[in-house]
Amino acid sequence: MLAGKRILLIIGGGIAAFKSLDLIRRLRERGATVTPVLTRAAEEFVTPLSTSALAAEKVYRDLFDLTDESEMGHIELSRAADLVVVAPATADLMAKMAHGHANDLASTVLMATDKRVLIAPAMNVRMWEHAATQRNLATLLGDGVLVAGPNKGDMACGEYGPGRMAEPLEIVTAIEAAMMDGPLKGRHVLVTSGPTHEPIDPVRYIANRSSGAQGTAIARALTALGAQVTFVTGPASIPAPAGVSVIRVQTARQMLEAVQGALPADAAVFAAAVADWRMAEDQPRKIKKDGSGKVPTLKFAENPDILATVSQMKKGRPALVVGFAAETDDVIAHATAKRARKGCDWIVANDVSPETGIMGGSENAVTVISAQGADEWPRMGKDQVAARLAAKIAGALA
Ligand code: C5P
Repeated sequence: MLAGKRILLIIGGGIAAFKSLDLIRRLRERGATVTPVLTRAAEEFVTPLSTSALAAEKVYRDLFDLTDESEMGHIELSRAADLVVVAPATADLMAKMAHGHANDLASTVLMATDKRVLIAPAMNVRMWEHAATQRNLATLLGDGVLVAGPNKGDMACGEYGPGRMAEPLEIVTAIEAAMMDGPLKGRHVLVTSGPTHEPIDPVRYIANRSSGAQGTAIARALTALGAQVTFVTGPASIPAPAGVSVIRVQTARQMLEAVQGALPADAAVFAAAVADWRMAEDQPRKIKKDGSGKVPTLKFAENPDILATVSQMKKGRPALVVGFAAETDDVIAHATAKRARKGCDWIVANDVSPETGIMGGSENAVTVISAQGADEWPRMGKDQVAARLAAKIAGALA
């Protein structure tokens, strides 16, 4: 898949830079050509000599290096590649990218390129979680930049949390997905995922146990088949996949708005566990315990049904609308009735009784209900369910 592909690898100045040397090896093993660009700070972590030796290519370092410019100018350098990869993408590099700085070779190449850019962020957990980095990340995602990682774990600085650079093989997978000329190339697929949070008052909310695992796996599988995926997610407990456009929401109403804003799409997969009800009235102040022993009564209002709304659109309905049905009894009967009631094309039904361990677990056992009837799939990993569903979607859109 990567044979003959050219990757421009910008190595930023972080401790994770040593992993980028392994990334070079992994990419070359797969037949790709890697042209490295080192930032000044990167040279504090890896040497030009080892980078160049592993890449078997010249290493580019300086914007004003006349020899470099005579051999290959920075504009040409930025465009000769099939994909530009930034690993590690430090907080500083991300900030430069988000704000359009071009004051060294790496940032200039990133501004000048007409190719897709994939970043693998790596930094201290506080730096990753800092509002400025998260703002820059949102800007970059909005610009169509693909993101792999970061992972959660122990960090070189002794702290724990998100900020570790994705492992070289994970970055390779994201690169392969970005290069894919898959059956869904040119198709836009919308995926909802995760739970919603419905506020009770400014400090409390109603939620559910959805982790977002199945929706995330589906988005990843669709991306791997070449689809352009818009991923509308509630507050999930696992990170969004690489290479998708992420829209983060809290409530069902925000999710509906985000979905409507993301249309048109060729297909839409509604894997989110949307709260059926929200509070009937907004509660601007925290509900107080007054010591009298009186308990509050919560009054609910029904949330919009996103799946039904999109399925029943008169104009601009995606050609394929897929819903989910999480049931605890009479799964097929309930799911079949749900398909008819909502007006979607397929319902992916599963039994989420606690004894199945499916909700929040890594496996799923689903039955896909369509106009053709019920197709029961064996129990398998959520990633495998996702891959099979993505392939079925590709088949339906072909
Ligand atoms: O009605 P129920 O919640 O069981 O339906 C599940 C399906 O409907 C899922 O695909 C879910 O994403 C979608 N749904 C929705 N909006 C709601 C409730 C459910 O899109 N308000």
